[in-house]
Amino acid sequence: MWLKYLIFLAGASLFRTETVDKVSSDYWSWRLSISREFSTSIGTYKYNDRLDSYTYEKIEDMKVEVDGFLKRLTLVNSSSLVGEKLISFKVLKEILENVRDGYEWKDYQPLNPINFLELWFYGLDMFVSAQPFDTEGDFVNYVRRIEEGPRQIEEMINLSRRAIANGHTSHNASVSRVPGNIDDMVKPPNESALYSPLKKDNASAILGKNAAAVEKRLQDAITAFNAKLLKAKEFLINEYMPKTRPGLGLSSLPGGRENYQACLKIHTSTEMTAQEIHDKGLEEVNRIEKLIRQKMSNIGFPSTAKLSEMYANLSSDPKFVFNNSADVLANFNKIIFERIKPLMPKYFRHLPDLPLEVRGYPTDGAGGEYKAGSADGSKPGIFYVNLFRPEDNPSYAAVSFSLHEALPGHHNQESYGLLADIPPYMRSYEWLSFNAPYFFPFFNAYIEGWGLYSEFLGEEMGIYQNDYEMLGRYSDEMFRAVRLVVDTGIHEYNWTRERAIEYMLNYTYMSRDGAANEVDRYATWPGQATGYKIGEIKFKEVRKKASDALGSKFNLADFHYAVLRYGTLPMSVLEYVVDQWIADQRAGGVPGVPTGGAPVLAFNAFSLILVTVYALI
Ligand SMILES: *[C@@H]1O[C@H](CO)[C@@H](O)[C@H](O)[C@H]1NC(C)=O
Ligand SMILES: *[C@@H]1O[C@H](CO)[C@@H](O)[C@H](O)[C@H]1NC(C)=O
Ligand SMILES: *[C@@H]1O[C@H](CO)[C@@H](O)[C@H](O)[C@H]1NC(C)=O
Ligand SMILES: *[C@@H]1O[C@H](CO)[C@@H](O)[C@H](O)[C@H]1NC(C)=O
Ligand SMILES: *[C@@H]1O[C@H](CO)[C@@H](O)[C@H](O)[C@H]1NC(C)=O
Ligand SMILES: *[C@@H]1O[C@H](CO)[C@@H](O)[C@H](O)[C@H]1NC(C)=O
Ligand SMILES: *[C@@H]1O[C@H](CO)[C@@H](O)[C@H](O)[C@H]1NC(C)=O
Ligand SMILES: *[C@@H]1O[C@H](CO)[C@@H](O)[C@H](O)[C@H]1NC(C)=O
Ligand SMILES: *[C@@H]1O[C@H](CO)[C@@H](O)[C@H](O)[C@H]1NC(C)=O
Repeated sequence: MWLKYLIFLAGASLFRTETVDKVSSDYWSWRLSISREFSTSIGTYKYNDRLDSYTYEKIEDMKVEVDGFLKRLTLVNSSSLVGEKLISFKVLKEILENVRDGYEWKDYQPLNPINFLELWFYGLDMFVSAQPFDTEGDFVNYVRRIEEGPRQIEEMINLSRRAIANGHTSHNASVSRVPGNIDDMVKPPNESALYSPLKKDNASAILGKNAAAVEKRLQDAITAFNAKLLKAKEFLINEYMPKTRPGLGLSSLPGGRENYQACLKIHTSTEMTAQEIHDKGLEEVNRIEKLIRQKMSNIGFPSTAKLSEMYANLSSDPKFVFNNSADVLANFNKIIFERIKPLMPKYFRHLPDLPLEVRGYPTDGAGGEYKAGSADGSKPGIFYVNLFRPEDNPSYAAVSFSLHEALPGHHNQESYGLLADIPPYMRSYEWLSFNAPYFFPFFNAYIEGWGLYSEFLGEEMGIYQNDYEMLGRYSDEMFRAVRLVVDTGIHEYNWTRERAIEYMLNYTYMSRDGAANEVDRYATWPGQATGYKIGEIKFKEVRKKASDALGSKFNLADFHYAVLRYGTLPMSVLEYVVDQWIADQRAGGVPGVPTGGAPVLAFNAFSLILVTVYALI
């Protein structure tokens, strides 16, 4: 025994020194092997013929693996690391520690993979569109993957039965829409969304003489898949729904408040407590309401008018409503390329300036989203806008939307990340939410915090031209502030669904249906929606810290470069980076220029429709 221990120690210190590169690359190989759909979505096609597993063994195994990587990281001589290497070491450590700490909650959220926002139960289109169909092999892999569907769905049902047995189920609001979604998905095999790849023009040319066999096999797979989806529906209605937790929030579960605290930590990547976030939310809602009321009085609204009245008036005012989608598109282009872009060099250093396009969505659904292009510029970043109902894109609201998604928001921020010399785990995050706090964090607070900070920066840049555009800005900010109050209200303070909906209606532009959807989302993903505002507050906080510390030596463009140059970071590493930058500036240092690096950032199209649907509004 002792001998073994000594041998281990000797091995550890003498032979088992590790490099960040080696641990990083082993970690990433493992990471992709357990997240196969995600792997496909970022262009690593090794697992295209398989689906992820949803077994309890996998839940247990994740902790064992993560402990192993953490142990290996202790063998890295971190004091020898500098620059990108040191940052990526810190980020990997934080990712792994989050998973390790989340293990305590393995018998809560991870047992409830079925909800109306993710995976199969949201819909099939995004899943299909993330698969490649360029070769016969792609088609065959795809068919095999669909053949795995029934196994995966049954695993999800089995996990859910465990949740029922231990009393850690979701609220009904998370699953009540799922039976309807399943009814929409279950169609005759040749009409299912899963069949659509075979309807592509070039499918029969790619498949040649095997076309008929592949088609037959796919139809059989879809038939089996449909049958299992209907089983899931039966399971939900007969077994799961009657046992859903009574309270909307986690506070209604034993240990729920501690669990919520862990959710807040993984989504905000700070140590803020639920009460601090709630109080901050109330403060922000008050502050922003005052600003809104000032602008309202400027444009002639009575001071007693409800905010909802003002929102309704503005969004139906013919002054702001476009009559056709070409005008909507032209307006976005004008804002981004004529109003914002010329001012960028004044606020940013080493601008990546990768190509950007605004496009209409090919199909209806989400309101908008940003998709990164490639580091060499051959594929542009794309800001997709929903042009199906021009009246939903009033001109006054397009300004903050453009700042958030395009410049200086996501396009600019992700372009810095694309050019940085960082490992893939800092480039590609799997956006899967149901299992938090026991999952890999995706540092939403950085990405969405920067988006919201960009809406604020638009003021300093002088982008907003009138009271209406400022009202558009404030109403977007208000929406994110309200989330701090409502999310914590639900999970920490036992708010009912009705109270949460009413609060949203009091302060935001949402319709009752929209507010109900939002509230059900917060119930389903505790803490996730708080990342946006908390991230923005953090960006402003580190900026203030730097400008206070440096006084007249503070340069905003250099500061922006310091916080963007390493790509997506947890807040603790962001603070570290800023502290280092302050020290360097004091010492008279000059920041370097980012170098090479080709991999492309992408989200898991299957699990994450949602950045899109909700994040951007
Ligand atoms: C760790 O790296 C530092 C800086 O390069 C070096 O001085 C130190 O000797 C290294 N420690 C070990 C145990 O290798
Ligand atoms: C087949 O067509 C699709 C578009 O429908 C396209 O994305 C794909 O690249 C084409 N593949 C080949 C091999 O031509
Ligand atoms: C689901 O659980 C049942 C009962 O324990 C078991 O027989 C079945 O193999 C499980 N299904 C899967 C796909 O793991
Ligand atoms: C859950 O929602 C469904 C669909 O709205 C409803 O039929 C069912 O009664 C609800 N169950 C509970 C426990 O609230
Ligand atoms: C699907 O197949 C059925 C039965 O073979 C046929 O009646 C129907 O027209 C087909 N639908 C489409 C969209 O091809
Ligand atoms: C919330 O509900 C739980 C259990 O239902 C209860 O123990 C707790 O006191 C309630 N908290 C508040 C603030 O109402
Ligand atoms: C809102 O719009 C309606 C119709 O356009 C108008 O009658 C009403 O006065 C407006 N309300 C306010 C407070 O401006
Ligand atoms: C849309 O058309 C109406 C009626 O023709 C017109 O009054 C309005 O100014 C137009 N809106 C815009 C934004 O062009
Ligand atoms: C919504 O506003 C009304 C009117 O001001 C107020 O009575 C109510 O308490 C508010 N609701 C919530 C949940 O704050």
